[in-house]
Amino acid sequence: MEVIVKDNHNEMSKEAFRLFADGLTGARVLGFATGGTPRMLYELASEACSYGNISFRGKCSFNLDEYYPICRDDPESYWRYMYDNLFGRIDLESGKINFPHSMGSGQETTARYANLYKSLGPVDLQILGIGCNGHIGFNEPGSSRDSTIRIVRLSDDTIARNRPKTATAITMGIKEIMESRRIILIASGDDKGRAIRDAVKGRVTESVPASFLQEHGDVTIVLDRAAARML
Ligand code: GLP
Repeated sequence: MEVIVKDNHNEMSKEAFRLFADGLTGARVLGFATGGTPRMLYELASEACSYGNISFRGKCSFNLDEYYPICRDDPESYWRYMYDNLFGRIDLESGKINFPHSMGSGQETTARYANLYKSLGPVDLQILGIGCNGHIGFNEPGSSRDSTIRIVRLSDDTIARNRPKTATAITMGIKEIMESRRIILIASGDDKGRAIRDAVKGRVTESVPASFLQEHGDVTIVLDRAAARML
C-alpha cells in the first residue's frame, strides 16, 4: 500500500485526480464510489473532460453500491449523485454506465448486476472511499473476504451517519473490489482517522473491511492530514 498525505481536502482531491488521470489512459473499466469525499475529484475530472484534457469515450463503468430499494430519480439515490457530479458532465456514453439500480426483487437486482460484472469486469481502475467504521462500498464490518455482489443490511453506524430511507443496499463484495487491477482510496477529515489507522496498520480482519486492501498489490491511499492523524 502506498500512502500519500496532503495538507487538506483540496490538495488530496488534486492528487487523487492526478493519479486517476494517469491511470485513465490504460483503463477500460472504471469503478466509482459516492459520498462527500470524491465530490471534488469528480469536479476536477468533469472540468478536465470539458477542456478535452481527458476522455471517457470507449470506457465503461461500474458503481460500488446503491441503496435498495430506491428509485433512480430519488434525490437521495447514488444514481442521482453520480449523474449530477460526473455522468451528466463527461463523455462516457450512457450505454456504458453499469449501475446497481433496484430492479424488482433483491435477487433479481443482484443477479442483473452480477451478470453485468461477469461479462464486463473486473475493474481496471477503482476509486474508493471509506466509512468511519472501515466499510468499503457497503461492505460493513463482518463482510468476508470472499463476499460478492449482494444485498446487505446497513450497520447502525452507517444508518446514523447517512440517514438513508432504507436500511438495505446493494454492494459489490470484497471479492470484486479485490479483483480491481488498481485502487485509489481517498479519505479526509478527523472522523476517518481511526478507520484509516485500522485499515493501514491494523491486522487484516472482517471487523475492518478496508483492512483486506493490505493484501492487494496496487493500492494508493490519498489522505489529508486530519485523516492521517493516527498513522
Ligand atoms: C457511504 C458509501 C461508501 C463511501 C462512504 C464514505 O456509506 N457507501 O462507498 O465510501 O459512505 O462517504 P463519505 O465520503 O461521504 O464520507
